[in-house]
Amino acid sequence: MASGCGEEDGQAEGASWRLIGPVAALSSRRCRLLFSSLGRGSDVCLFYVKGEFFAMDARCAHSGGPLCEGDIEEVEGVLQVFCPWHDYNFDLRTGKSGTSLQQNVYEVKQEDGNVHVKHSGRLSLEPFPVGRRS
Ligand code: FES
Repeated sequence: MASGCGEEDGQAEGASWRLIGPVAALSSRRCRLLFSSLGRGSDVCLFYVKGEFFAMDARCAHSGGPLCEGDIEEVEGVLQVFCPWHDYNFDLRTGKSGTSLQQNVYEVKQEDGNVHVKHSGRLSLEPFPVGRRS
């Protein structure tokens, strides 16, 4: 599968739709880590849960735990990821937590069989070569 690198809107600043890859491949796993050209702190988790994609910052807003490794549960109709480090919960759709923390979330769309995420940095399924992130 080709890794995403799209800058479809050609915007130098602000968020643009980033081509990630085919829906068929990306829906085979519950979560994929998307590497950001802006650095490790801007990496994104792409979740696929109950037929829907969700994107949020990969590092927990509390202390940086890896949310791609968290458990996902539906609590009172709300899909949430639970951080594996201290079990804080984040709404997959809004990024809100039962704590006062807020996780950044990003728009996701499907178009022509591909998944796109709106983000200010380039996103890739593969790590960016050292020194080539920006
Ligand atoms: S690092 Fe995620 S809850 Fe503490």
